[in-house]
Amino acid sequence: MAVDSANARAVLGIESSCDETAAAVLDATGRVLAERLLSQRREHAPFGGVVPEIAARAHLAHLPGLVRETMEEAGLDYRDLAAVAATAGPGLIGGLIVGSHFAKGIALAAGCRFLAINHLEAHALTPRLPGLAGAAFPYLLLLVSGGHSQWVTVEGVGRYRLLGRTIDDAAGEAFDKVGKLLGLPWPGGPALERLAASGDPARFRFPRPLAGRPGCDFSFSGLKTAVAQAVAAFPEGALSRADAADIAASFQLAMVEVLADRARHAMALFTSRFPDPRLLVVSGGVAANNAVRAALGAVAAEAGFSLFAPPARLCTDNAVMVAWAGLERLRLGLEDGFDAPARPRWPLEELSG
Ligand code: KG4
Ligand code: ZN
Repeated sequence: MAVDSANARAVLGIESSCDETAAAVLDATGRVLAERLLSQRREHAPFGGVVPEIAARAHLAHLPGLVRETMEEAGLDYRDLAAVAATAGPGLIGGLIVGSHFAKGIALAAGCRFLAINHLEAHALTPRLPGLAGAAFPYLLLLVSGGHSQWVTVEGVGRYRLLGRTIDDAAGEAFDKVGKLLGLPWPGGPALERLAASGDPARFRFPRPLAGRPGCDFSFSGLKTAVAQAVAAFPEGALSRADAADIAASFQLAMVEVLADRARHAMALFTSRFPDPRLLVVSGGVAANNAVRAALGAVAAEAGFSLFAPPARLCTDNAVMVAWAGLERLRLGLEDGFDAPARPRWPLEELSG
């Protein structure tokens, strides 16, 4: 089939590191030609969290059809691809193997490049997608999801510096655990935010772990334990919906105040290295929380930063960001061999540009 020159350098992206099976095709400029995303939420919900084995099997079952549909919608043949980019880590090993090996197979058959994408790098480069913030390097990134909570200076493709991270739970994990304590469906974050809207945030005074301490690390396990103790203080069956709403609101306030405090420190650290550009980007599922966005917006403004949060569908796991990270790497002439491993643990700092 005839393709124009932009489509002739298209990139197929594949995401399968956790519980979302996703594929996307971008043209050479980064324009999204087609995308598909299948959440496995319903498969994992009865277990109250992601079951790795179920996730891997679901990726295996759904990925071939999903990729075929995405390519058809993009109107492309596999030979039109300049590269196939797949998340190779960090994440759940089964899903990483399924996605990255499927991508290698396509690249091998189509005779195009393969790119092993670091999932965190894909989140980090999202604000550079055409039509979003147009973020120029360097910028400060807060990544807050179910699996990660970290501050990163994004200095270039493959050039990242970790400023701080959680020393125990991730922020989304804390939302999920507190959601479970309150009897909310998994994942707890969105339901907890809705419940908190009708609650009194001043009724319970939960701790703000590490607030005011130097640096910008996080700790959330003490906060979660304090909520568990507050819930346990109610006799069996006595926790009303109004009580649960007050606990949710008080927890969310503690969370937001901790994030705001850590943000002040992170912005100061960033400014000491890069005095001029002042962009704070927040991404990951927790960035979908309106109270979190509002609080970060306020502290960013105080520090002379502007806050950018990608639209919610690009904050959470998706394949557009994987294809985009692939395109960014491709533009630098980078590619990976078919022996590139799937890496459950793959810190951003281990990437080299
Ligand atoms: O980025 P994500 O979709 O997946 C990964 O963890 O990689 O993030 C999911 C996390 C879950 O912990 C979920 O509860 C949380 O993001 N989350 C929220 C909200 N929406 C999603 N947390 C708080 N408020 C929300 N509105
Ligand atoms: Zn993610």
